[in-house]
Amino acid sequence: MPLVPMRLLLDHAAENNYGVAALNVNNMEQIQAIMEAAQETESPVIVQASRGARKYSQDNYLRHLMLAAAELYPSLPIVMHQDHGNSPATCKSAIENGFTSVMMDGSLGEDGKTPSDYAYNVKVTKEVTEAAHAQGVSVEGELGCLGSLVTGEGEKEDGHGAEGKLTRDQLLTDPEEAAQFVEATNVDALAVAIGTSHGAYKFTSKPTGEVLAMDRIEAIHKRLPNCHLVMHGSSSVPQELQDIINKYGGKLRQTWGVPVEEIQRGIKHGVRKINVDTDSRLAITGAIRKVFAESPEKFDPRDYLKPAREAMKEVCKARMIAFGQAGWASKIKPVSIDKYKSYYK
Ligand code: G3H
Ligand code: 13P
Ligand code: ZN
Repeated sequence: MPLVPMRLLLDHAAENNYGVAALNVNNMEQIQAIMEAAQETESPVIVQASRGARKYSQDNYLRHLMLAAAELYPSLPIVMHQDHGNSPATCKSAIENGFTSVMMDGSLGEDGKTPSDYAYNVKVTKEVTEAAHAQGVSVEGELGCLGSLVTGEGEKEDGHGAEGKLTRDQLLTDPEEAAQFVEATNVDALAVAIGTSHGAYKFTSKPTGEVLAMDRIEAIHKRLPNCHLVMHGSSSVPQELQDIINKYGGKLRQTWGVPVEEIQRGIKHGVRKINVDTDSRLAITGAIRKVFAESPEKFDPRDYLKPAREAMKEVCKARMIAFGQAGWASKIKPVSIDKYKSYYK
């Protein structure tokens, strides 16, 4: 099966009321973990790579690994998505490198740090949708900045996030503005800001509606019932993964992520793509630490990368089942991006 456009999966998810995990990768083992999880749960797949991931793994390796995944798992529809593209140039180079979906994150300027204004966001996002749709490639935009509703800060744990204090207005996507944005840019999916942030340190206790504004998702969905919504910063940061890391010599501060049941609530209100990276990182790190602590004599990378891959696979499977994408892979008729061009005419 060829790699497919994201719009194909999100339309199917909307018709059948489920969400799809968008899982970040940087290397072969992470791709293998996702594909094994998808195979075991019969799930459609969104694999995503950040700018940093593309640099780390190199576009050529990444493209060939993704094509290998498509070859090895012909019955699974697979999307290859650019996560947090910072400029039209980044998105265009992703398309040239085989990505079937791109995110133009115009909520921040090209430096990935400075909150932008609405006019800039519309301009760059529209430029990307025009170029991408001409190739049948899907586009995700973002309106509002990710960050904590308590501290007013975006995080930069992974090098991408707003710098300085943000106002509540910047941290919460406005439903009316969202409607104007989608109309003006023609995006296929919209990432919204509701108080989540990237990385492990999202909340200092189990989040309530004060810090995780799920009601904002409901309001946006009410205003834009046909728009596919995207939740970023949606790792759940499970206690057991924190505990494994700390048990084997790690030093994580106690922290809370986005509870899976809150994401399930979002899925009932138009959330179709859920971004998860940190949970995979935690699972991998815990598994590697365990091998190093229990078997310090080992030095074959396979001795620790295999359990790491297995641990990430388990997280991916759990999310695929919880978000409702499990079991749907064979129901989706594959369409290549080339054939998908006509979707936008
Ligand atoms: O954007 C957030 C993802 O977790 C990717 O992080 O930029 O460190 O690859 P990264
Ligand atoms: P987490 O850090 O919560 O996994 O979020 C990942 C993300 O939003 C990638 O774009
Ligand atoms: Zn993100």
